[in-house]
Amino acid sequence: TDSDNTLLIMDHLEKIFSAAIAEAYPLYSKTPVIIAAVNNVSAKFGDYQCNNAMGLAKKMKEAGISISPRDIATEIKRCCPASPLIDKIEVAGAGFVNVFLSKQHAVSALTTMLRDGISPPNVPKKRILVDFSSPNIAKQMHVGHLRSTIIGESICRLLEFLQHDVLRINHLGDWGTQFGMLIAHLEDRFPNFINESPPIGDLQAFYKESKKRFDDDEHFKKRAYQHVVTLQAGDPKSIKAWQLICDVSRQEFQKIYNRLDVTIEERGESFYQSRMLSVVEFLRSKNLLEHDDGREIMWPNVNKTGIPLTIVKSDGGFTYDTSDMAAIRHRIEEECVNWIIYVVDSGQSTHFNSIFEAAQRCGIANPNEHRIDHVQFGVVLGEDGKKFKTRSGDTVKLSDLLDEGMKCSLKQLQDRGRDQILTPQELSDAQESVAYGCIKYADLCHNRISDYVFSFEKMLDDRGNTAVYLLYTYSRICSIARSSGEDFSNPAKILDAFNIVLDHEKEWKLAKTLLKFFDIIIKCSSGLYLHFLCEFCYEVCTAFTEFYDSCYCIEKDKTGKIVKVNHSRILLCEATAAVLRQCFKILGLKPVAKI
Ligand code: ARG
Repeated sequence: TDSDNTLLIMDHLEKIFSAAIAEAYPLYSKTPVIIAAVNNVSAKFGDYQCNNAMGLAKKMKEAGISISPRDIATEIKRCCPASPLIDKIEVAGAGFVNVFLSKQHAVSALTTMLRDGISPPNVPKKRILVDFSSPNIAKQMHVGHLRSTIIGESICRLLEFLQHDVLRINHLGDWGTQFGMLIAHLEDRFPNFINESPPIGDLQAFYKESKKRFDDDEHFKKRAYQHVVTLQAGDPKSIKAWQLICDVSRQEFQKIYNRLDVTIEERGESFYQSRMLSVVEFLRSKNLLEHDDGREIMWPNVNKTGIPLTIVKSDGGFTYDTSDMAAIRHRIEEECVNWIIYVVDSGQSTHFNSIFEAAQRCGIANPNEHRIDHVQFGVVLGEDGKKFKTRSGDTVKLSDLLDEGMKCSLKQLQDRGRDQILTPQELSDAQESVAYGCIKYADLCHNRISDYVFSFEKMLDDRGNTAVYLLYTYSRICSIARSSGEDFSNPAKILDAFNIVLDHEKEWKLAKTLLKFFDIIIKCSSGLYLHFLCEFCYEVCTAFTEFYDSCYCIEKDKTGKIVKVNHSRILLCEATAAVLRQCFKILGLKPVAKI
């Protein structure tokens, strides 16, 4: 609908200019429209710019028509349909078409946001499965899984905000040959495990012990293999042992999810047992499996480029490839999703490319109906620029990392004397908000493709694009309405008596920044990049700080008595807070009013 379109400024301008180009130059009506948001301090360039005139002039010249870009720009301007969003359009320089947004439109958009809350832009709804976190039972949940957990959770929140139907799936590594040795070891160490819960809280150590025996002891190795067979055959004792081991890991994982406020449904590799059998049959029936050195493999494409998938091992067992083929088939054919998102480190990109290609080759996935993304991310580095490790060289335990975050954030709050000002409850809320917020934000604020350096010191810096800076700015905004002595909790009521006014240059700049929110959401969701949203938050906070530095919201006399409350400006503050809250929600930051 029309009102939806006006939320998406970029989209709206694209439509306007594409109509204008089609009218002015029908032969070139298919030209993709180029719109840029202008981030120039100088207002004379307008707020957005259409940059098509230069390219069109070049194309026409090639076709033997000589016309200057400036004349083309003028013609495009003349053909622009009227729009409530636009105050004026100007042609500048070599052939830029500058767009100036309408203040009146901005006022009404912000007013709606304050009255009705922030509604998401309207997009076609999809059923989406997000495969994220996905650690392995009995193995360390490491920082790579932490990245997947944080990025995956935010992607779910973003897509849920857009009102998609989102399935959050934990593709736990809970099946496979490693269970043979774990079960054999469990039998030896705790023969009575059926009746008495074994104390294997430290599964890491348990895993290491059994791995050592597996590597050193031929006899044990044989028994381990036998247990893979008994487990897969559904032998009750083996199943019981497997469940016990899974439960221990599961509880550890859940603690991390609770702390990070992550919601995810467990559907591990074991879920696909029967479906692995049937996907193998399916592939065989299509003649897609080839024998290779005792294995059965499948080439992802007819040209046999890339790496073949191992579908059946020489001992008849299945692999990671088999389970992912079974999973993708289940997701598309049984869950009926039309978008699958795998949030897994870049190291697995070859694997996923093969799976996606193979799924197409055998007819499970159809590129016209199913969007499939491998949302990859780089590794976490320590401050020394090497792979993130503890001082002793071990992998970092996630719970230790979160504990350390809690300590650092408390120390920072104490250093600022906040423990003197805040109540114990407020202090502990602030501590959690900063600790988990900064860990999440440090991960999300960079382009996920690149590696990033984990440093509490940098994360907790209160200047620059950090969670701390955003959280402090947010609480500062909240304190303004609070100190006005009036009740702004229901902005609709204030709006009955006062309007938003955008006369001051900094008010206008802040308002225009806020209205970019909807475009940013679309930009983030199309490529599944959250750093754009982080950059936006930072831009909002800087625009707010500039506004607050030059615009009084509350005027006081020498005695500190309030002499004037500028309702319009406080409404603008409240709109800023509302936009930030929505962004924080997606990024998993918990805003606190006092910090
Ligand atoms: N468990 C795997 C790992 O830790 C990640 C699983 C990702 N999801 C998938 N469908 N393969 O490396």
